[in-house]
Amino acid sequence: MKALILSGGKGTRLRPLTYTGAKQLVPVANKPILWYGIEGIVAAGITDIGIIISPETGEEVKAKTGNGDRFGANITYILQEQPAGLAHAVKIAQPFLGDSPFIMYLGDNLIQSELNLFLDRFKDKQTDALILLRQVPNPTAFGVAQVDENGRVLHLVEKPKVPPSNLALVGIYFFANTIHDAIANIQPSARGELEITDAIQYLISQQKQVEACQLEGWWLDTGKKDDLLEANRIILDTTCLTASVLGEVDEKSQVIGRVQIGAGTKLVNCTVRGPVTIGSDCYLENCFVGPYSSIGNNVNLIDVEIDHSVILQGAKVIEIHQRIVDSVIGQRVQLVAAPQRPKALRFMIGDDSQIELT
Ligand code: G1P
Repeated sequence: MKALILSGGKGTRLRPLTYTGAKQLVPVANKPILWYGIEGIVAAGITDIGIIISPETGEEVKAKTGNGDRFGANITYILQEQPAGLAHAVKIAQPFLGDSPFIMYLGDNLIQSELNLFLDRFKDKQTDALILLRQVPNPTAFGVAQVDENGRVLHLVEKPKVPPSNLALVGIYFFANTIHDAIANIQPSARGELEITDAIQYLISQQKQVEACQLEGWWLDTGKKDDLLEANRIILDTTCLTASVLGEVDEKSQVIGRVQIGAGTKLVNCTVRGPVTIGSDCYLENCFVGPYSSIGNNVNLIDVEIDHSVILQGAKVIEIHQRIVDSVIGQRVQLVAAPQRPKALRFMIGDDSQIELT
């Protein structure tokens, strides 16, 4: 069994963060989204992993993620020159995949369930494909499945205008080698991409075995700001379970609940209420950091109140006299000094931005 993780694409829905970086490397609770997928795959016992990368962000993904040693895996990078679709990615990965069955994992998806559950079912039933479905309020944004009363998949359609159900295809699929023949038999969709949804639909139309599991627990597709904040909230809730302070906290500061503070970080007269994760080499003075916030490495916060927000590494936020909430602040952003109290601040600010509130 092998794994194929898709980490290409342009990440248009997470712009401006993704102008300068891969969407799969945007951190959730201070860890790149992509790494949760790799860890989940390795935990299911699969260590032979191919990662599809794009010319724009591939080098960054490679440099950050490495050859797999840190995960106990063996990673092969596969360049997809054009964003020509998910099925196209499988096509170019064929030399890596060979005849092996494989799990295909979209690098910006996060799920609560362990993959083993589905992997065992896929192996037991020896089907051509196992797909995961989840009820969503907005099925037009996804691949959608029509199933019969026994849960058998009747029909799949990608981003339908009139959805046949509210069951979306989760971005995690299990395939036997028959998927390659299916991909060879489909045409690009209206958006010009070879859709994996169409390839699975082809399997169905050829009376191949396509099973579906309904996903329990949460599923996050971290394509947008609010999804990212929600992923950050859920991951902090499930992974930040104990307090751990490696940095320095002065006697005027209060650190309450599940708070992780990295080495070399200094807190002066701050209140931090967990769950919160703060990276290494940060400096925080006269700050309140509220629950469900993640602060990357080398961040500088002075006279700031922040709550339910993600601040990426190297950002500097100084003397903002209004609480910052529900915000994502990119790498190296400088957000400095508001003289009066504005009514509200809500941010989605890209890397390298400089903002002065005057
Ligand atoms: C892709 C798939 C879609 C699936 C979704 C899950 O959509 O094409 O069928 O429901 O991932 O995240 P995309 O993210 O490319 O719009």
